[in-house]
Amino acid sequence: MQPSFSLSRLGTESAFQVLARAEALRRSGREVISLAIGQPDFATPAHVVEAAVKAMRDGAHGYTPANGILPLREAIAADLQRRHGRAVDPERLLVVPGGKVTMFFAFLALVEPGCEVIYPDPGFPIYRSLIDYCGARPVPLALTAEKGFAADPEALAERITDKTRLIVLNSPGNPTGGVTGPAATAEIARIVAANPQVALLSDEIYSLLLYDNHRHSGFLTFPELDEQLILLDGFSKSYAMTGWRLGYGFWPRRLIEGVTRLAINAHSCVNAATQWAGIAALDGPQDFVRSMQAAFARRRRLIIDGLNAIPGVQAPESGGAFYAFASICETGWDDRALEGMLLEEAGIATLAGSAFGACGTGHLRLSYAASEESIAIALERMRAYMSKK
Ligand SMILES: Cc1ncc(COP(=O)(O)O)c(C=O)c1O
Repeated sequence: MQPSFSLSRLGTESAFQVLARAEALRRSGREVISLAIGQPDFATPAHVVEAAVKAMRDGAHGYTPANGILPLREAIAADLQRRHGRAVDPERLLVVPGGKVTMFFAFLALVEPGCEVIYPDPGFPIYRSLIDYCGARPVPLALTAEKGFAADPEALAERITDKTRLIVLNSPGNPTGGVTGPAATAEIARIVAANPQVALLSDEIYSLLLYDNHRHSGFLTFPELDEQLILLDGFSKSYAMTGWRLGYGFWPRRLIEGVTRLAINAHSCVNAATQWAGIAALDGPQDFVRSMQAAFARRRRLIIDGLNAIPGVQAPESGGAFYAFASICETGWDDRALEGMLLEEAGIATLAGSAFGACGTGHLRLSYAASEESIAIALERMRAYMSKK
């Protein structure tokens, strides 16, 4: 048996490895605080769970249309219109099992050897993994703390060539929490529209998780991008539904039929009851989202202040998602070594910044999707461990 060359190039997400190691430590009796995984530590709202139970009791046991049941696509279209002020045709939506699937399909639909893909560095590791899988040339767009980890339109424009097939952007961003503001977003939209051979995959999975005065600037509001934009969003982060596997993409007309065929080839459709749960999430009360966001805002304050109080650590005020991305350069620690030692010796799971790209080297990502109490204990243990060394 010979695995394919593409398979050997496929990367991964270190969060899942750290999660497995943290679980193994717990099984051996050690206590581990996890600040590694990017998932809300809240239960899915009860009315959403009830909707899935009801759907199952009512007989939603079969396949659904591959692109998703129409009532769900209509609910998503209405939600997008509410949030982005733009009418969306439900026929341009493909409901998929989680945000990642829109990402994977965008690459399968557009990217091949010989072309270039621009992606954020530091960024969600799956972007780079998929570039390598497709045999394309990776063109990193560096995000810096000085610019609030926002995408820089000028730097983006400089990286576009006649080989660029896809640009991937992510705001609010993982791993940095960086938010690209309205002026830069408008400028990027202008640049992308001026290069009609290029598609833009805008990963807006954290669009409901913003703090202080930050507001979401998405690309759906730019009709000039209509035939270039793939908008990735979903339910995992906004409604604490990571395990349900429910996401969606808004696709250019030219691609929607092809990517629906990808869905038919890959998974046929999303679990039917999960789709009914998605309708309840969008059409039901939104106070859950607001209280989760408020809890994250308090934890963000705690973690940023706590990290900045550790000698040599600098944690900028990131505007969104639920990650602190702290520089540890001045501590003299290598980020991977520190990730390992904090886990094994201090019982805190974090992620090394270098797992998110070369520009992430010298950083740690700490997810604040954990209770205030756990965050406070973790910060204290981290301070004690790092001052000992
Ligand atoms: C930037 C980004 N995009 C997409 C995803 C994938 O979300 P899902 O769990 O819905 O596949 C994640 C998950 O961590 C993420 O951080």
